[in-house]
Amino acid sequence: MYRVVVIKDIVDEAKNVKTFRFEDDSRPSPGQFYMVWIPGIDEFPMSISYIGNLKGFTVKKIGAGTSRMHDLHVGDRLWIRGPYGNGFEITEGKALVVGGGSGMATLAPLIEKLDNRDIIIAAKSKDELVFLNRFRDLEPIIATDDGSMGYHGLATNLAEKLLVENDYDIVYTCGPEPMMSAMVQIAKKYGVEIQASLERFMKCGIGICDSCSINGYRVCVDGPVFNSSILFSMTEFGKVRRTPSGKKEELG
Ligand SMILES: Cc1cc2nc3c(=O)[nH]c(=O)nc-3n(C[C@H](O)[C@H](O)[C@H](O)COP(=O)(O)OP(=O)(O)OC[C@H]3O[C@@H](n4cnc5c(N)ncnc54)[C@H](O)[C@@H]3O)c2cc1C
Ligand code: FES
Repeated sequence: MYRVVVIKDIVDEAKNVKTFRFEDDSRPSPGQFYMVWIPGIDEFPMSISYIGNLKGFTVKKIGAGTSRMHDLHVGDRLWIRGPYGNGFEITEGKALVVGGGSGMATLAPLIEKLDNRDIIIAAKSKDELVFLNRFRDLEPIIATDDGSMGYHGLATNLAEKLLVENDYDIVYTCGPEPMMSAMVQIAKKYGVEIQASLERFMKCGIGICDSCSINGYRVCVDGPVFNSSILFSMTEFGKVRRTPSGKKEELG
């Protein structure tokens, strides 16, 4: 079930964010994820950030598992299973892509498949912007909460400005849940379709344990990407999540 992959390259992307490149024969689509096992430490979900033969995970250092991963070197091994989940559905027309922080990892392979798109890369501060170099030729619009680079303010305020000034057919978003949940409300206000990639605590990753459930949907198999009609009906999105023990808690 698990397979071993060897790390071929490690790239520093931003503050506390590194990309780990590895060869693997699987054929994921943009928005899908893998379960990554670090023996003795943890197993956790990671979106695929490069989908060619030389694949990539772009990992923000958060806790024990991701910190251990950040300590790995070229030649070290990862145990992975997947790809899992549904991925993004590419729709016709002009897209607005809104990525916050390490949410850009999930959106990156999608951006590379879109012909007609505007891209917002956002973060709290300029040293946390992910994939500026990768997408420089596509002229992304930068937003930082502290104004250290680009638009000074929230990605959602900038996105609303763009939605007023342009005609978009679809918004794709991934990032912190408060950002995505505000983005869903803005898309609803302007009558634009939206797809968002959600994060919930995952154990099995394959629809068995229910730890990732939100309003009766299992994020690992029904998502992680959800479309407008489901997002608009999710009363827990942006408000409630489950802890590792399965208990519901309010999002801070
Ligand atoms: C579908 C999906 C795709 C993801 N893709 C990426 C990505 O591309 N890059 C990235 O940096 N992060 C991604 N994450 C988040 C990543 O899984 C967590 O940051 C990671 O699990 C933290 O583990 P830890 O041991 O370092 O931290 P811990 O200290 O164990 O946990 C810190 C926080 O991370 C989250 N977390 C921990 N374990 C899990 C788990 N098993 N499932 C879900 N969330 C967990 C919880 O919010 C927890 O409070 C993704 C999450 C999901 C659900
Ligand atoms: S992680 Fe087990 S059902 Fe989704």
